Amino acid sequence: MHLSLLAPLSLLLGPVFVSAQGASGSGRTTRYWDCCKPSCAWPRKGNSPSPVRTCDKNDNPLNDGGNTRSGCDSGGSAYTCSSQSPWAVNETVAYGWAAVNIAGSNEAAWCCACYELTFTSGPVAGKKMVVQATNTGGDLGNNHFDIAMPGGGVGIFNACTNQYGAPPNGWGQRYGGIGSKSECESFPEKLKAGCNWRFDWFMGADNPDVTFRQVACPAAITAKSGCTRQNDVINETPTGPATVPTWTP
Ligand SMILES: *[C@@H]1O[C@H](CO)[C@@H](O)[C@H](O)[C@H]1NC(C)=O
Repeated sequence: MHLSLLAPLSLLLGPVFVSAQGASGSGRTTRYWDCCKPSCAWPRKGNSPSPVRTCDKNDNPLNDGGNTRSGCDSGGSAYTCSSQSPWAVNETVAYGWAAVNIAGSNEAAWCCACYELTFTSGPVAGKKMVVQATNTGGDLGNNHFDIAMPGGGVGIFNACTNQYGAPPNGWGQRYGGIGSKSECESFPEKLKAGCNWRFDWFMGADNPDVTFRQVACPAAITAKSGCTRQNDVINETPTGPATVPTWTP
């Protein structure tokens, strides 16, 4: 009797709670920087009025990046903007971007959504990073955050050779990228800070595990990406000023 009464109620409320609270769980991370136009930079991915900002070969924001082909495709001229590099807000919190795959979800639901990652392994265990999903990836598993960081390896696609004259397989290993902070010194000027971040705040962590929960995007992140979801996590108020300082160790 109770069950038959409760079942329709939970069917009704279940999906509402899911969308209001957003996704959460445990997952894994990898790293990449392929210089390509991220997938959420195409129009009408997700529910944001404007897609993720992209830049031309010289790192200047494109006016119509949404309809410009990716620098990863021949003849394409839209690239990842260097401003979408991770940065340290303070010793325990960093902000950035990631290619994402959430179990049981889809690109429309995660494009430009933000996730608070709490690292649970490696030297960064206990630190938190808020990432906005700007991309997806055919090679990502469930609950997988491929964190964008210059010098993190180009992975499947590579526009860095075209954009910056990086070696044919990008800087360092195709998967994983460079191995030491000193290699950041030879990077393009605008990518150096994000490259150094990996060895400073991120402590050279190697694909740490995480727990995650969807959060309202910090304004400091959407100000840089240009992408804000409508009805971003309903039961939270966004969060913080449009600019936050960069913390230097
Ligand atoms: C670090 O920054 C976050 C986000 O602004 C803030 O919530 C937290 O209190 C800060 N922590 C410290 C130790 O300053």
